Amino acid sequence: MNNRYSYHIQPENGWGNDPNGLIYFKGRYHYFYQNNPLATNNSRIYWGHVSSTDLIHWQREEMALAPETEYDQDGCFSGSAIVVDGKLYLMYTGHKNLPENYSETQCLAVSSDGITFEKIDEPIISTPPANNTHRFRDPKVWRNGDRFCALIGGENVEGFGQVHLYQSIAIAGPWQFVKTIAKAQLDEGTMWECPDYFTLDNQGMLLISPKGLGTADKGGFNSLYAINKSPNVQEADFSDFKILDKGTDFYAATTFFDPIKQRRLMVAWFGLPGEQEKEVGYHQVGALTMTRELKIEGDQLLTPPIEEYEELRQTEVTFSDEMKLSGSSELLFTPQEYFELKLKGDQGGYIVSYQNHQLQLTICDKLRNRIKTIAISEIKELRLFIDQGLTELYINEGEKVFTNKCELGNNLFVQAENILEGKAYLLAPIFS
Ligand code: FRU
Repeated sequence: MNNRYSYHIQPENGWGNDPNGLIYFKGRYHYFYQNNPLATNNSRIYWGHVSSTDLIHWQREEMALAPETEYDQDGCFSGSAIVVDGKLYLMYTGHKNLPENYSETQCLAVSSDGITFEKIDEPIISTPPANNTHRFRDPKVWRNGDRFCALIGGENVEGFGQVHLYQSIAIAGPWQFVKTIAKAQLDEGTMWECPDYFTLDNQGMLLISPKGLGTADKGGFNSLYAINKSPNVQEADFSDFKILDKGTDFYAATTFFDPIKQRRLMVAWFGLPGEQEKEVGYHQVGALTMTRELKIEGDQLLTPPIEEYEELRQTEVTFSDEMKLSGSSELLFTPQEYFELKLKGDQGGYIVSYQNHQLQLTICDKLRNRIKTIAISEIKELRLFIDQGLTELYINEGEKVFTNKCELGNNLFVQAENILEGKAYLLAPIFS
């Protein structure tokens, strides 16, 4: 079956959402993702799986987890991966519908080859902490000295999102609740999904994906980060949350440490709850974003795409004020103090303009009409990736990023005004 997108990871069939269990194991990078292979909705979630030796050429692997045991019968929800004694473990949420609501428990599966997984008989954490509702999911596991730590997202009984820390001496448990390390204030989200914790430049960093934010923007969903000066998760005071990506179709971001190039990498779901449901008539919906590197420079977080994507450049197209491109392209340019770049396809349009230190992005296709304006003092460089309906715009090496779906079609006409110099490339697919 044809892939809908060319260089973004997507499910082979059906519905895809969060990236899960990103890890390097036995010579290969493994990315898993939430996938319902049987329908383009999220009614019954499996873990899809792809692997790669270089992070840009990928191969499909067999489904890693299927919802087939009593405790995960309605979904193998999001989670993470860890290597312990030469084996790959997946810690995930077993989702089970009940007559009134649902139950969520934390479960474990193990593999020696990274391809075939066996589930441990019983959930390893079967009840949430006392003040938490049944919304209790998305474990992120890591090793911390002589023990394992895990963060789990939740909602307290008053309806505020929160993140819990657990620890255990052995990966299979017994797991103990340590403390709630972060909590929402009013309008900061009713449920905090997909927590992630790691250190970057010796500072602690927390990622969360809240739902139920008190804003109409992105339907009340977003993916946020907070930095804590102490690298010790137990001493954390995470309160000043910032937005990871200015685009609409970016959610459930998660990271992993790449031991080969010693860097922290991030991938998110290229989609948004409530929005992706509107895409009908495709055999695949949902994709993962490009892999980005996380870097702290001064007090700024930069999230540029990993350098490996340059290897996908197949043909260079001469950059000019008016040019034609295919639906899988990259544009790289240095603008003047004000500029405009217009992309027109047979199915939609995408315009990025800049003046008086305001950047405006206008998107329209048969599903969307969106305008977003942000302040940005200086633009040194822009890089725009277009992939058959997916767009990622990186400003100043990832200082600001916009991840947006926009169905442009395959024949693109580009008009550039006030651009000093630029380059354009047609990009190769990532699945051979
Ligand atoms: C985030 C999320 C997670 C959950 C998964 C289910 O998009 O709702 O909290 O584990 O998706 O697919």
